[in-house]
Amino acid sequence: MAIVTVLTDPEALAAAAAERVTSLIAAAIAARQRARVCLSGGQTPLRLYELLADASRPWRSRIDWTRVHVFWGDERQVPPGEEESNFGMAQRVLLAQVPIPADQVHRMRGELSDAADAAREYEVNLRAVGRDGALFDLVLLGLGEDAHIASIFPGGFPSRGASLGGLSRANPTGFAPPDPLVAAVYVEYLCSWRITLTPSAVLDSRAILVLASGDRKAAAARAALDGPEDVSRWPAQLLRAAGDRVEWLMDAAAARRRAVPPA
Ligand code: 6PG
Repeated sequence: MAIVTVLTDPEALAAAAAERVTSLIAAAIAARQRARVCLSGGQTPLRLYELLADASRPWRSRIDWTRVHVFWGDERQVPPGEEESNFGMAQRVLLAQVPIPADQVHRMRGELSDAADAAREYEVNLRAVGRDGALFDLVLLGLGEDAHIASIFPGGFPSRGASLGGLSRANPTGFAPPDPLVAAVYVEYLCSWRITLTPSAVLDSRAILVLASGDRKAAAARAALDGPEDVSRWPAQLLRAAGDRVEWLMDAAAARRRAVPPA
């Protein structure tokens, strides 16, 4: 069962997330001398990244950035300098502000003309870095209004726990064995390609932290946490397979459709 914490507002949510991320990173470094963190894209984690980078706040100095490896849960098919780039946002706001070694920043190359090539390349990179009991120590996720996570969108795969495989126009059947870790997906309503971790890769983490903020996420959060199972319609429900490795941090607006009152 996921752990859910409801905070009063977006700033309190970001501060709670900064505390949780810092603790999880410190624990990973203490146990394994490194922390493998998969960052989320989108706007929700922006304030979290700002807080982690801020030397006047308590979190930055508690992290030994030289032992942190960062990855991404998904990327848009754009060059790293574009506004849309998930890597670009994290690089500007956080990574350029902390002493993380450049070779420990593992980005997806959204600039490649074929997203499937970028997915295959990232798969090779992930497998080269290897597992240390798990692929990641922490996967950070935002939540789409349709309950997508990373770029695992509704209808993106046929059943719970299955992976997207190489699901793309090039391979509409997807699910090429062994279960791939990364896929290229064409998102019809966005008319754009995405590179994304598959459900298998997202779930292969010691901890998964989902951030949901704002009224527009309330229906998705309720479906993900409380709704009848329909993973293809509500992809965030796939996180149910991870039990209490999943923690949700929500603000009151995002939690307002849930039957459970805030703590
Ligand atoms: C992306 C993210 C995506 C995001 C949700 C929520 O590339 O956009 O990985 O999964 O987390 O769409 O986005 P917001 O945080 O901007 O609402």
